[in-house]
Amino acid sequence: MGQKAITQNTLFYGDNLEILGQYMADESVDLIYLDPPFNSSRNYNVLYKDESGLESEAQILAFEDTWHWSKQTTEPEFTALKQQGNGLADLLTTLVRVMGRNQMTAYLVMMTSRLVQLHRVLKPTGSLYLHCDPTASRYLGIILDMIFGEGNFRSQIAWLRSKNPKGSQHKLKSYSPDTDILLFYSKTDAAELYAERIKIPLSEEDLVIKYDRIDEKGRFTDGPIICSLSMGDRPNLVYEYKGYTPDSFGWRVNREKLIEIDKRGDLGWTSKGNPYRKLRPENDTGNHIGNCWTDISSINPQAKERLGYPTQKPLALLERIIQASSNPGDIVLDPFCGCGTAVHAAQKLGRTWIGIDITRLATTLIKSRLYDAFGIEPKKDYDLIGEPTTLSEAKHLATQDRYQFQWWALGLILARPLGGQADSKKGKKGADKGIDGIMTFQDTASGPHKRIIVQVKSGKVKSGDIRDLHGTIERENNAVIGVFITLENPSHNMEMEALEIGLWHSEGWNRNYPKIQILTIEQLLDGVKVQFPGTDTTLKQTQREQDNAGEQKQLM
Ligand SMILES: C[S@@+](CC[C@H](N)C(=O)[O-])C[C@H]1O[C@@H](n2cnc3c(N)ncnc32)[C@H](O)[C@@H]1O
Repeated sequence: MGQKAITQNTLFYGDNLEILGQYMADESVDLIYLDPPFNSSRNYNVLYKDESGLESEAQILAFEDTWHWSKQTTEPEFTALKQQGNGLADLLTTLVRVMGRNQMTAYLVMMTSRLVQLHRVLKPTGSLYLHCDPTASRYLGIILDMIFGEGNFRSQIAWLRSKNPKGSQHKLKSYSPDTDILLFYSKTDAAELYAERIKIPLSEEDLVIKYDRIDEKGRFTDGPIICSLSMGDRPNLVYEYKGYTPDSFGWRVNREKLIEIDKRGDLGWTSKGNPYRKLRPENDTGNHIGNCWTDISSINPQAKERLGYPTQKPLALLERIIQASSNPGDIVLDPFCGCGTAVHAAQKLGRTWIGIDITRLATTLIKSRLYDAFGIEPKKDYDLIGEPTTLSEAKHLATQDRYQFQWWALGLILARPLGGQADSKKGKKGADKGIDGIMTFQDTASGPHKRIIVQVKSGKVKSGDIRDLHGTIERENNAVIGVFITLENPSHNMEMEALEIGLWHSEGWNRNYPKIQILTIEQLLDGVKVQFPGTDTTLKQTQREQDNAGEQKQLM
């Protein structure tokens, strides 16, 4: 494919450094939001909650947030950066010399290589928001200053994630870390910030406090109608109105506009005969947002948008950033996209998006998220790059990593992963109870969500697997269909077993669907689909529209 300007929604699986270098052209992106692992020395586990509200006991290890100085990855990236022979190379060399080859410097080398690439792909009018926490933010700020130029630093935003400070039974030595940090840079001075779009409306109470005076027209507060000294001389706006002539800096509006304001009842006079403008609550557009964001809370366990992906950010946060620093149709890139919050927000706000993640768990979740929210599918509605497209590539993936294969296979039918790889380091055991993935749908408009249980096998398969899957469907609440995805071809006995289990009758659609559906990877790659009412798009679409109603904002 080579480097080019990507102008279509695109989801990449892979290491963002390679993808940026291989596919993305210089100066081709309008906005970058990145939320990399923070070097918090934690492993992030996914705890899934499905539509029934039950949380799966199984925890999937989504990604590790521990960095080590590695001869295979860190050292070559460090060498490449040093070879640039610029101030950034000097800075990094000094940091490594002073701090040593340790976790922090390994993390900084990883981040620097990527930030250099991100700066390259950003348009001169583009902006970048780096989401981080205090662990590395102090170092990342200096690195960003070097790459973007100190003058292109715009803001350091503190996002109040939690309003419940962490307590401790030990004597506290630091304040509770309740905020994340967003470092906002622009590529050049030409980048716009559309602050008007993200103003915060005042509450009823605040409006009463602010508009504390009353006349025959209603509540108002007084605002200036004469220019201030600091605005300089405006001789063309110096004129007489109702016996008042301002000094050389003049009125704020021309005579016609002033007459209009007066006619509307919005021109007032002090007892000393000085004019002022009456500002009304109905015209209040809210307050400008500062750099301390306290009005968006992190995703709570009950939140409807919660997917269970660790470090998932709230949609409202990403909507704010995208509205403030891009326009409809612009290209938004998230190179560490996780379960796709930035991708979701960009799609909702009519921007073109590019998402990159290095785990198939993330890319599979994004696929099911986009399908559930917007009814869009990979390849048909957006490009998908870096995933197996042939049977031999699928076989290769299965031999490399069984879990990556499983997550990828679930993505072929847009199922959501559930259970799976245990966090072996914490000694937890995978308790997938025979469920690898879940699909949900509503059979009747008011009925509960029905579930499709999905199992994926990359090795040998037998009739007993079909009986087990049937047992799981019988056991699980609201489970009505079982899908058995297999890399190997099923035996005749397996197919007979599935046939004998029979059909499930959909009340909503008055149709029958096979209770057990065996699908090979080869069939799925050929476009064969699971049979269930969700494939009948009308009901699904109505549901989606209802879900999205109320949340819809203007596309600006
Ligand atoms: C903090 S999470 C992002 C969460 C995301 N903002 C959301 O709302 O879901 C960081 C993500 O970066 C991914 N990641 C880590 N290293 C990466 C790399 N080199 N290339 C691409 N993705 C990477 C991880 O798999 C993880 O999903």
